[in-house]
Amino acid sequence: MNVNKFIISKKISSRYLIHQILDGVFINRRTKTQTIDYLRSKKFFFEEKDIAQAERITDFIFGHLNSIDDKLFLFLKKKTDISVVNILRIVISEIALKESPDYALVNSAVDLAKTSFKTKYFSGLINAVSKSLISKNEEKDFLFKSNLESNFKNYLVKNYSKEIADNIEKIYTLNNTLDITIKSFEEIETWKKKLEAILLPTGSLRIKKNVKLIDLNGFKEGKWWVQNISSSIPIKLLGNVKDKNVLDLFSAPGGKAMQFIALGANVTCVDQSSFRIKMLKENLARMKMKTEIIKTDFSRFRSQKKFDIVLIDVPCSATGTIRKNKEVQYIFPKKRLNNLLKIQKDSLNMAKKFVTDNGLILYCNCSLFSSESECQILDFVENNRDWYFEKFSKKNTKIQKDWLDKFGFLRLRPDHLFDLGGMDGFFAAILKKKVQ
Ligand SMILES: C[S@@+](CC[C@H](N)C(=O)[O-])C[C@H]1O[C@@H](n2cnc3c(N)ncnc32)[C@H](O)[C@@H]1O
Repeated sequence: MNVNKFIISKKISSRYLIHQILDGVFINRRTKTQTIDYLRSKKFFFEEKDIAQAERITDFIFGHLNSIDDKLFLFLKKKTDISVVNILRIVISEIALKESPDYALVNSAVDLAKTSFKTKYFSGLINAVSKSLISKNEEKDFLFKSNLESNFKNYLVKNYSKEIADNIEKIYTLNNTLDITIKSFEEIETWKKKLEAILLPTGSLRIKKNVKLIDLNGFKEGKWWVQNISSSIPIKLLGNVKDKNVLDLFSAPGGKAMQFIALGANVTCVDQSSFRIKMLKENLARMKMKTEIIKTDFSRFRSQKKFDIVLIDVPCSATGTIRKNKEVQYIFPKKRLNNLLKIQKDSLNMAKKFVTDNGLILYCNCSLFSSESECQILDFVENNRDWYFEKFSKKNTKIQKDWLDKFGFLRLRPDHLFDLGGMDGFFAAILKKKVQ
């Protein structure tokens, strides 16, 4: 990233972050979180309020990109550097959200342009286009319509159905939900009352109020952790895991590791990211939980020990989290997906080395793409004839019938629990060795 950090003034720090997130998505193919992690790893500091502001504005931009670009390209006739376009997208979103006085918008857009070598020679253009956007705003008062990126929507229509794709689009325009997992199952009713939460069908709580996490009762005390209902379901379907030895190959920030520990399992956590391991350690400390943590690439992990359960919650396109990470629909060139597919395939082949003969692999991810999910499992059993996948049963009372697909895999979608605000898309499969 070509930035000069010495000229960033405090005043534009949230806008600077917004611009970095937009460049991250449209130039470097990084998610919002990856950009924030990247900047932190380079010792950039942003206050929590700046991150919150940046997330709000970028969510608006990713969610309304078609309308924003329609408006922008009325004023920007020449082909222009994408980083400059991104500054103007910020200006339009701020006009639409009516958050700052007009003069402040123009000044900060020009200041922002000056922070990078790529954009500083375009400050004149940015100044002129921003002023035109502001002065012509009333006569061309645009309706900002929220819709999914067209290729992404087409994928959903083709692979699910038009009705499901439309429902996912509807749910995607709503505010994201905040779900939590309670450490101690017996205390669910107590916390439901204390947090005025909704009890979801599988025992997660959904918080209705839009409040800061650390201000919520029980957070600092380690009574619960944040985990979307969908990602908490696979482990709930495994039955009794008390005293089982679990290897969690992609474990940070630790949602599933904490679930296992709370249920009495012994967990070995592996993750390659220092920053995310720090988050894992903070989460475990807050929850007063202890476990072995190994910082390594999963492919370098070695152990003589075998495990009853190997959890591989693989890195993936994160397309299931589209309600929260609206940018994921814009970052799918073939190369990125191919890298992810390779990691997923390799991790399955790695996991099978560490499972006891009666043990299992729990494969999961938050993707809506079948190539990362169903196809990986079908390929694995095709190439490993001594392995099979075990169907999740439709008789299982904890799950609704349409949460399972035709193979018996868990296939959760953002439009499931539609009336309660939806859930993240999530996929899970269980693999076992055939008895000789
Ligand atoms: C989907 S997240 C895991 C979420 C976690 N299981 C939970 O429930 O909170 C994927 C994790 O894989 C880690 N990761 C990505 N590539 C890796 C690799 N090659 N080796 C080890 N960890 C990796 C990332 O740092 C990230 O923390």
